[in-house]
Amino acid sequence: MQNPATAAPLPATEPAFELVLARSHLRLPVEPGESMADVLQLAGIAIDTLCEQGVCGTCATRWLDGTPDHRDSCLSPEEQATHVAVCCARSHGPTLTLDL
Ligand code: FES
Repeated sequence: MQNPATAAPLPATEPAFELVLARSHLRLPVEPGESMADVLQLAGIAIDTLCEQGVCGTCATRWLDGTPDHRDSCLSPEEQATHVAVCCARSHGPTLTLDL
C-alpha cells in the first residue's frame, strides 16, 4: 500500500487550453476549473446560458477548429459535429476555435 504522504500528485484532469475566437480575433486562456462561457462573459462576449450543466443546449456555439471535449448531455452527435456547449465542454487539444 502506498503512503499517501509520499504519493505523486495526481495529474491535472482539466488542462488549460486557449480559446480562439475566429471573428473577434481574440485568444483567451481557459484555466482548469473555468468554463468557456465564464471566460467569454468576462471578455465581454455575451453568451446565453441557462442550466450551465450541459443539459439545456442554450449555450451551444459553433466551433470551427480543434477537438472539443464534449461534456454535455443535450447535443446529438450530429450537433456536436458543428456545435459545442460552452458551459461545460473543454478541449482535447491546446486550442479550440469558435465562430465568435
Ligand atoms: S447552459 Fe445549458 S447546456 Fe450550456
